[in-house]
Amino acid sequence: MSRRDYFLTLRNAHPIVLPSLLSADFGNLEREVTRLEGVGVRALHLDVMDGCFVPNITFGLPILSALRRLTKLPLDVHLMIREPQRYIERFYEAGADCLTVHIEAVERPREVLQQIRDVGAASGIALNPATDIATLDGCLDLCDLVLVMSVPAGFGGQEFHEVALDKLRHVSRQVSDAVFLEVDGGINTSTIRRCAVAGAQLFVAGSAVFGSPDYGEALRQLSRLAVVSE
Ligand code: DX5
Ligand code: ZN
Repeated sequence: MSRRDYFLTLRNAHPIVLPSLLSADFGNLEREVTRLEGVGVRALHLDVMDGCFVPNITFGLPILSALRRLTKLPLDVHLMIREPQRYIERFYEAGADCLTVHIEAVERPREVLQQIRDVGAASGIALNPATDIATLDGCLDLCDLVLVMSVPAGFGGQEFHEVALDKLRHVSRQVSDAVFLEVDGGINTSTIRRCAVAGAQLFVAGSAVFGSPDYGEALRQLSRLAVVSE
């Protein structure tokens, strides 16, 4: 099975809460991954920042490869970097199953999305709260995932921006069920349900998981709130 298909198997199980390792203990990544696997997480969200596209630097290829060796869970890699097209192949080789690039960081989104699919990963496009949703017109057919940011990309622990809800509703009307709708930033027990009602299926949570002494309980609580009956 291709890594893209592997990532797309998550479709059978949403809603899914993905812990963002940005808030994990970087001195004990193995322990963190083991703890997360132990409480049944379905996938991991990894935030790559370059200090240029966003004013923060996190980690890159070597850490991704190390995580790949630690787990078989699908790796959802959120690239907050300039010129992501230069690195797609290397991030794939390092172990990404889904690669998401920011619409604000690419001049030719269709080319990059196609490039991601061509290497064998699922393709994602992300947009910041301040970015007009219309910027996605013309590339949605090449997306396996649309990531609606509910905080400006760059840091964990920021407050949820309500504008994300309108965007989720808008995108969910525009795309088929084959496309994942993901939301990232400020997701907690008071915001997750509104995102689910607005159409999100994948929910990234950093502080709401790692800030809790019991990851399992935090994830279960979030997942319960994310279930909306049709
Ligand atoms: C922010 C990152 C997020 C971040 C979310 O730029 O993309 O994934 O870790 O953290 P919380 O859940 O704390 O807002
Ligand atoms: Zn993220």
